[in-house]
Amino acid sequence: MGVGYSSLPLSTATQHNSFPLTTFPSETKSNSVPKSIFSSNPTKKDGTFNTYLHKFAFFPTTQFPICVLHARVGPLRCGRVRDMEILEEIDSKRAWDVRSIDQDLIQKLTYDALVWSSLHGLVIGDKSIRRSGKVPGIGMNHAPFALLPLPFPESHFSEACELAPIFNELIDRVSLDAKFLQESLSRTKKVDAFTSRLLDIHSRMIEMNKKEDIRLGLHRSDYMLCEQTKSLLQIELNTISCSFPGFSSLVSELHRSLLIHHGKLLGLDSKRVPLNSTVSKFAEALAKAWTEFNNPRAVVMVVVSSEERNMYDQHWLFSVLREKHNVTTIRKTLAEVDEEGELLPDGTLVVGGQVIAVVYFRGAYAPIDFPSETEWRARLLVEQSTAIKSPSVSYHLAGTKKIQQELTKPNVLERFLDNKEDVARVRKCFAGLWSLDDPEIVNKAIERPDLYIVKPQREGGGNNIYGDDVRKTLLRLKGERIEEGAAYVLMQRIFPSVSLTPLIQDGICHEDDTISELGIYSTYIRNNEKVIMNEQSGYLMRTKISSSNEGGVAAGYAVLDSVYLT
Ligand SMILES: Nc1ncnc2c1ncn2[C@@H]1O[C@H](COP(=O)(O)OP(=O)(O)OP(=O)(O)O)[C@@H](O)[C@H]1O
Ligand SMILES: [Mg+2]
Repeated sequence: MGVGYSSLPLSTATQHNSFPLTTFPSETKSNSVPKSIFSSNPTKKDGTFNTYLHKFAFFPTTQFPICVLHARVGPLRCGRVRDMEILEEIDSKRAWDVRSIDQDLIQKLTYDALVWSSLHGLVIGDKSIRRSGKVPGIGMNHAPFALLPLPFPESHFSEACELAPIFNELIDRVSLDAKFLQESLSRTKKVDAFTSRLLDIHSRMIEMNKKEDIRLGLHRSDYMLCEQTKSLLQIELNTISCSFPGFSSLVSELHRSLLIHHGKLLGLDSKRVPLNSTVSKFAEALAKAWTEFNNPRAVVMVVVSSEERNMYDQHWLFSVLREKHNVTTIRKTLAEVDEEGELLPDGTLVVGGQVIAVVYFRGAYAPIDFPSETEWRARLLVEQSTAIKSPSVSYHLAGTKKIQQELTKPNVLERFLDNKEDVARVRKCFAGLWSLDDPEIVNKAIERPDLYIVKPQREGGGNNIYGDDVRKTLLRLKGERIEEGAAYVLMQRIFPSVSLTPLIQDGICHEDDTISELGIYSTYIRNNEKVIMNEQSGYLMRTKISSSNEGGVAAGYAVLDSVYLT
C-alpha cells in the first residue's frame, strides 16, 4: 500500500544528547561507488547514472547531519557470518551490537547513506513542500531507512521465499471460486460498504460471465518471526498496490554499499545482504503481461492517487519497464479514467485515446480513493474491459483479511491446493485468526486484549485495533451490534524480538528499540492453462519502533530496511 505520508513522527522518543554539527572530510572515491541496480542492464540510463556519480566522486568537506543517539538497553541479536574466508578478514566481535559501534563511524555511515540515497533516487516527496506530491522533482527528502540491515536467519528467509509461488497459486485458485468469495464475504458485505461495492462489481462480472483469461499477480506476503516459538508467521498477503518494489531493491543496494565500504570496521560482510530484484521482477511481470495482451501499440496504465508522495518508488518501476522492456506507462486517477475512458464493442479499454493492455493499481484500495460515484464507475469500467488487471476484483477480494481468516479453517486450504506438502507449509505459517462469532475466543481476547489484534477489511495501514481498544471494541460488538462484528477478524498478536537499531529520518540518526516485518514479493502470470511466471521476486524488511502498533513506511510508522542473513 502506500499513498500519503502521515504527519505522525516515526519515533516518539525525545531527542536528547544531540551532537553539534561536525565537519568530516569524505573518503569516498569514484571507483568505490557501488554498481547501481541497473548495472546488469546496458541502457543509456546506466551510463548517465555512472557519469552523474563520477561528478560527485569526491565530496567536499561538509557538515554532517545531526546524529541523535539514545542510551538504550537491549542489544541487537548477534549476527553470525558463516563464510570462513570473510571471517578471517573481519572482527566478528563487533558485529551487530550497535552500542559497540564508534560514534564517528555512525556519523560517517549516516552521511554516506544520505548521499547515496540522494544520488540513487531513494527519495520521497517532502510533506512540508506543497507541490511535492504532485510535481516530480519538487521538494524531495530521503526515504526513511535503517542504517544497517537487520540480522535474519537464513533458514526462515528461505522458508518465506519458498512459500511465494505456493501463495501465488493459492490466490489464483481462490480468485476463480466466485461462490467461495461471495459466501465467505456475505456477512461482511452487510456491514462494510467498501467491501460491498467490490462484491457488487464481482457479482456483475459473474452475471456477465466475464472471464479473466490472463491473470497478473504482483503480491507481497508479510511475515513476522515470533520470538517465543521461533516460527515464521504470516501477517497478511497483499494483492493490491504492494508498495516499495522500487525502494526495496534500492535499500538493499544501499546496505550492500555501506558494508562494501565499511564492512571491515563493522565486522560485517556485504555478501550476506541478499541481492534484491523486486524492481526488475515486477517490471518483467508487467512486460510479460503486456506481451500476452499482444498489441504493440497498447500501454500499461497505472491507477494512482491525485497526490502521491511515494511517486519515486513507482517511477523506478516504470523507468525499468520503459528502458529495459520498451513498454510505455501512463498514470491516471480513477476520475481521469472515468472522464477519458471508453470501452470499445470488443471490450478493449481506451483511455485518452490509448489502448490499455494492463491496468496496475497503485491506488484504489481504500474508501478514501472512492470519494464519489465517478471513481466506482471507473473501477467498473476497468473490470469490464479486456485489459489485464493487477489486481482484478477477484484477486482484490482474495486478498482481504476475511478470506485470509477463512483459509485458516480446517479443510479449506485443501480445496485450493492439490499438494499435501504445500498445504502443510502454508498452514505452518498461519497465525491464529478467528471470526468474531466465536464466543470462546472473543471472551479470551476481552480478558487478554494485549495478545490479539482486531482487523477490519482495510488496506494501507492505520486501521487495525490494538491494546485496550480490542477489549472495548469486542465488548461493544458483543452487545446489540453483533452483526457489525462481521466487518472484522480477530488475529493473534505476534511478538518478534526487539533490537536496538539506528534509524535515519529527516537526515537525523537516532537509535531506538525496534521490531521488524519481512515482506516477500511475488509475481504470477497465467494465460488460461499456461503459467508464464510464478516466482518469488525480492523482499522488503520494514522496521518500526517496538512501541508502535502499525507498520507502514508510507504511513510514517516504519523505516525501510533489508536483510543480513545469519
Ligand atoms: N498479528 C499481528 N501481530 C503483530 N503485529 C501485527 C499483526 N498484524 C498486523 N500487525 C502490524 O500492523 C501492521 C498493519 O497490519 P496489516 O498489514 O494487516 O494492515 P494493512 O492495513 O493491510 O497494512 P499494509 O498497508 O502494510 O498492507 C503490520 O505491518 C504489522 O506491523
Ligand atoms: Mg495490507
